[in-house]
Amino acid sequence: MSSVKELVESKCLSSVPSNYICLENPEDSILNYETDNIPTIDFSQLTSSNPSVRSKAIKQLGDACRDWGFFMLINHGVSEILRDEVIRTSQGFFDLTEKEKMEHAGRNLFDPIRYGTSFNVTVDKTLFWRDYLKCHVHPHFNAPSKPPGFSQTLEEYITKGRELVEELLEGISLSLGLEENFIHKRMNLDLGSQLLVINCYPPCPNPELVMGLPAHTDHGLLTLLMQNELGGLQIQHNGKWIPVHPLPNSFLINTGDHMEILTNGKYKSVVHRAVANTKATRISVGTAHGPKLDTIVGPAPELVGDDNTASYRAIKYSDYIELQQNHELDGKSCLDRIRI
Ligand code: OGA
Ligand code: NI
Repeated sequence: MSSVKELVESKCLSSVPSNYICLENPEDSILNYETDNIPTIDFSQLTSSNPSVRSKAIKQLGDACRDWGFFMLINHGVSEILRDEVIRTSQGFFDLTEKEKMEHAGRNLFDPIRYGTSFNVTVDKTLFWRDYLKCHVHPHFNAPSKPPGFSQTLEEYITKGRELVEELLEGISLSLGLEENFIHKRMNLDLGSQLLVINCYPPCPNPELVMGLPAHTDHGLLTLLMQNELGGLQIQHNGKWIPVHPLPNSFLINTGDHMEILTNGKYKSVVHRAVANTKATRISVGTAHGPKLDTIVGPAPELVGDDNTASYRAIKYSDYIELQQNHELDGKSCLDRIRI
């Protein structure tokens, strides 16, 4: 299976090959543009030593998780130099020869490093306009040794990302009326899973015919995403697709399926997708932060009551990831498979 990048570069492509043509038309369904309304959370307020500033930020965080499942994070303290370096070296990875990249052509979901294309080529009926590199980076750090500096840059970046997520999860725990380290303890986050996913969306002659990454939800608790200067992410909100144009130097954060399960649906996992563009290669870098892989997660008893019975059955995190990966992405959330 050749990568999209190879396809584009080998053939001076003037139209999309038929096996990439997708029925889900990314342009038809954009009903309006409400980007301005996407919530913004100021990380410096969330960590403020002034209790009233902090509690206001925690309230905003809870509202964003409940009403959108998605927000932009600003004033987070991760340097622009580091962010740029992650994008630059990621691009450098995809610019390696196909032979070098294929050293990481993983077969199995839990391979420490996995290079590939589309979503899961063994189940995808149509192919997606996306190549990827996935690395399990916590509790054990794994990254390719090429290009030079890539692994060190990623290690610094994912450590910073984990610090941000820990802080956000404290705020989220408090916003739910639980103790600050509730999620951390319950999800065994000292050994929590952190999966780095770097997406490469090469330029496409007919972006309206293909999908970069079709509608899906993420499996973990929180996903942290950044991208190069090209947009392409769309999120679903009140039944509409909203294209996201992040503020400069911000992170995009979304709540994942395990946040929805744990909170028994109070905080929803948001459906999103990525579309292709004609102009240039889009790179996005996501880190999915989840429980320790063998943690069995169900709705927290603290958040379930007589008038709010459990809506999801408990499942081991690693089993859930397999469940998601072994089915094609059909626009529905994998949560439907464990709903009671
Ligand atoms: C993902 C994802 C969106 C993007 O990797 O799960 O949703 O904009 N990526 O690349
Ligand atoms: Ni996603």
